[in-house]
Amino acid sequence: MINKNEKIQKRYDRVSSIYDLLEKPMELMAFSKWRERIIKRIEGEKILEVGVGTGKNLQYYPENVNLTGIDFSKKMLEKAKERAENLDNINLIEMDAEKMTFHDNSFDTVITSCVFCSVPDPVKGLKEIRRVCKPDGKIIMLEHMRSRNKLVGKFMDIVNFIPLNIWGANINRKTMENLNKAGLKDEFIDYKNVRTDIVKIIEIRNKK
Ligand SMILES: C[S@@+](CC[C@H](N)C(=O)[O-])C[C@H]1O[C@@H](n2cnc3c(N)ncnc32)[C@H](O)[C@@H]1O
Repeated sequence: MINKNEKIQKRYDRVSSIYDLLEKPMELMAFSKWRERIIKRIEGEKILEVGVGTGKNLQYYPENVNLTGIDFSKKMLEKAKERAENLDNINLIEMDAEKMTFHDNSFDTVITSCVFCSVPDPVKGLKEIRRVCKPDGKIIMLEHMRSRNKLVGKFMDIVNFIPLNIWGANINRKTMENLNKAGLKDEFIDYKNVRTDIVKIIEIRNKK
């Protein structure tokens, strides 16, 4: 029987050929600008991008970093590989964020953009990020999540099945709560609302 992770992975495989087209309006609206902004905030040389997708962030990384990108959708990753063709500082690997094969404390910065709407078990994925990020390393996230506004949040719950069934993304994830559940403490979490309280840029110091 197909498990929860395979189900989401297959949805991303299915949508991969039109993913960039579907997302184009959002990119033009602001996401490209936010992508550039988060990548300017990376620290260190060894960087991990979790859920790299079709590789929309790749163009923003400086050449002097050693970037590893993972994704569990083979087809999304194929698109990212096309984008990374001439960039030899980038290594793209098919891997599940919930069970990464990297050693503990491997990366200076771990980065995600629009990923924790999709990771089937987000707390498990976040715990893995904590594990592979060095002590005092940085975790940077550009994520959309459920609004805390009662009406808006309820509306997001009601329509969540639409994006979830088309490509595997939830619009009602409680990502800030999930960070705490994964053991990340508020005192080391800094965030900015960049579009209402739904889209946030989050920076976390990985205290172990
Ligand atoms: C909405 S897309 C975002 C892609 C990219 N980060 C971006 O900003 O365009 C979410 C991506 O996360 C990947 N993903 C979701 N859960 C994952 C997991 N458990 N392990 C690895 N990749 C995962 C999906 O395959 C998909 O490519």
